[in-house]
Amino acid sequence: MIKAYTHLNEILTLDGAHKKDGRHLLPSDVSLIKNGAVAFNEDQILWVGKTEELPSEFKNYSINLQGHVLTPEIVDSHTHLIFGGNRAEEYIDRLNGTSYEEIAKRGGGILYTMKKTLEATSDELFRLSCERIERIHSYGVGTIEIKSGYGLTFEKEYELSRLIDRLKKKFHGRVQIFNTYLAAHDVPKNFKSSEDYLDQVVLPLLDKLSSEKIIDAVDIFHEKNYFTTDDVIRLFTRATELSIPCKIHADELNTNEGAQLAARFDALSADHLLKISDEGIREIASSSTVATLLPGTAFFLGKPLAPARLLLDAGAKVSLASDFNPGSCHCDNLLLIASMAAAQFKMNQAELWAGITLNASASLGRLHQGAITPGLQPKFSLFKSDMISEITYNWGRNFSVTLP
Ligand code: NIG
Ligand code: FE
Repeated sequence: MIKAYTHLNEILTLDGAHKKDGRHLLPSDVSLIKNGAVAFNEDQILWVGKTEELPSEFKNYSINLQGHVLTPEIVDSHTHLIFGGNRAEEYIDRLNGTSYEEIAKRGGGILYTMKKTLEATSDELFRLSCERIERIHSYGVGTIEIKSGYGLTFEKEYELSRLIDRLKKKFHGRVQIFNTYLAAHDVPKNFKSSEDYLDQVVLPLLDKLSSEKIIDAVDIFHEKNYFTTDDVIRLFTRATELSIPCKIHADELNTNEGAQLAARFDALSADHLLKISDEGIREIASSSTVATLLPGTAFFLGKPLAPARLLLDAGAKVSLASDFNPGSCHCDNLLLIASMAAAQFKMNQAELWAGITLNASASLGRLHQGAITPGLQPKFSLFKSDMISEITYNWGRNFSVTLP
């Protein structure tokens, strides 16, 4: 079925950004069309331009959207939204001076959420996740990546990956869900090493999930006291043999050459990168791996931000995501985070919008969305506003409306 959205006050097409593969973007790469129109069918965008130039064959399908602006669909490419309990008490401990790392060492952090997730029933986790997805979607986000990672036993991680698959089916057609397997998130206390946990849980379960074709990517928390470089190589090698793409939590609390590992394995993305080295910047910039920055986490942990400008200037594909999780970033509003971060990172408007659309889609291997240009998928976000700039200028205010 054909539709044509017309009389849009502005369309942010990102056509220029798309042609440049999301790199080295100039302000003009937003490729804005005023009084715009777009015609599309279920599969692809057919035409984009000014409303007065809409080809006659599309006129019967017009939907007048005056007073609105349209962007490529917003994508939150990094969330940990499936978990039980919360960490409000730990948050207060952090305000009172205990660090994230110290809290983790005394058994708090991810292992505390593991305990609460193990106590929660499948139905309860499903209900909580549905509520969280609805809220994220209400800000205009149409694609959400969800990581497992708070089960940390063979059985519970299996349950979480299957729950994400259930969520994918439930939201099909309304919200596109990407299922990332992050059993390598922390090492439960009953294993003698991360290697041992990998052997007993992470790798055998990966084989099982692969045969059931449930997951879209693997991920690992490559960090001191969590998973080593050897662990990453073993997981990525197995995933590559199974044709499952890789993602990595890299160079977050310590410099560990995670970005280089990601580039060498052709990973979809390397995420966090607060402590990425100069060599890491060079390697990731000359690869297809997306550098995903999670500024909400640095804000919430009170850490210095990632070197975004260096990555952008080196030609990396930079994306922004929320990292929504109970510990290090309990904020689900990607537009708010991006709006604050762009000013801190000194990103121009094209870099900001590509970061939450085009490059975020690329970090999920979704190369057929992320710009409003003929041939790409018709995936959009719609806002009740006269100007695109209003959306991030009014940081934290929600202009999103449902697509007709
Ligand atoms: O991306 N780094 C690992 N995972 C999350 C934190 C999870 C947690 O603290 O519960 C992150 O920041
Ligand atoms: Fe994360």
